[in-house]
Amino acid sequence: MSSYQGKAGLVTGAGSGMGRATALAFAQAGAAVVVADVNVKGGEETVALIREAGGRAIFRACDVSVAADVEALIAAVVSEFGVLSFAVNNAAVELEAGLPLTEVSEAVYDRLMAVNVKGVFLCLQQEIRQMALQGAGAIVNIASVNSYRPQLHQSVYTASKHAVLGLTRNAAVESASLGVRINAICPGAIETPMLDLALNQPGVVREDIIAYMSLNGRFGRPDEIAKAAVWLCSDDASFTYGHALAVDGGYLAR
Ligand SMILES: NC(=O)c1ccc[n+]([C@@H]2O[C@H](COP(=O)([O-])OP(=O)(O)OC[C@H]3O[C@@H](n4cnc5c(N)ncnc54)[C@H](O)[C@@H]3O)[C@@H](O)[C@H]2O)c1
Repeated sequence: MSSYQGKAGLVTGAGSGMGRATALAFAQAGAAVVVADVNVKGGEETVALIREAGGRAIFRACDVSVAADVEALIAAVVSEFGVLSFAVNNAAVELEAGLPLTEVSEAVYDRLMAVNVKGVFLCLQQEIRQMALQGAGAIVNIASVNSYRPQLHQSVYTASKHAVLGLTRNAAVESASLGVRINAICPGAIETPMLDLALNQPGVVREDIIAYMSLNGRFGRPDEIAKAAVWLCSDDASFTYGHALAVDGGYLAR
């Protein structure tokens, strides 16, 4: 694996789940990491975990749906570490779990799209501008198997993850000539608080979901997504542009 020594970047939604695992993995690979989240406690815990393991990290509170927050986040990475070598746009919410489309409120639709789609859009804008100045950089957006397939009672989330792939591909095409590589990861069912939310719905049987979502009899682990992100942002992935990498236990293969 190419080295991340001397490199720095950010992970949004790094106070929990696969964002935390991703921040830890980049730090372990030698990068300085800016941990961004709306959840201050979770974000600071991630920083503490990185530092305990001998890595370099700082926390920045950031709501990715707010342009001024995102602008300040990129400025903080550059002022603290001098460069934005990589960015993982991972923050997202699922607010409609258990609700059929007909029951989803306008407020839930607006918030979900604001975080999951506008958040990725705002991050891409600021990250690409900075990386274009540098003439180099790599970005990974966390999409989902829902970018391809519907799931019961996840209509707005599914729409948001389709949009993340659209943003990824268009941004990749526009940014290659600037020296910026942009890709996506489509996780399957990964053991995180967000998955717990889906599993804790009435009538949902964990074993049935595992059998439906995975070819190897288990859910994925956050570190399995983290490793894919570290590879996609590294020079080892130097010919990979606009790709959507499924890390999904084979779910999309069926
Ligand atoms: N867990 C799964 O099975 C699964 C499957 C496919 C895709 N995903 C995607 O993976 C990514 C990570 O999900 P996870 O399962 O680790 O979820 P999680 O809920 O454990 O973590 C999400 C993090 O994002 C943060 N966040 C929420 N809104 C934010 C905002 N406006 N600004 C900044 N941070 C914000 C939360 O505070 C939290 O720390 C998400 O994009 C999610 O849609 C998850």
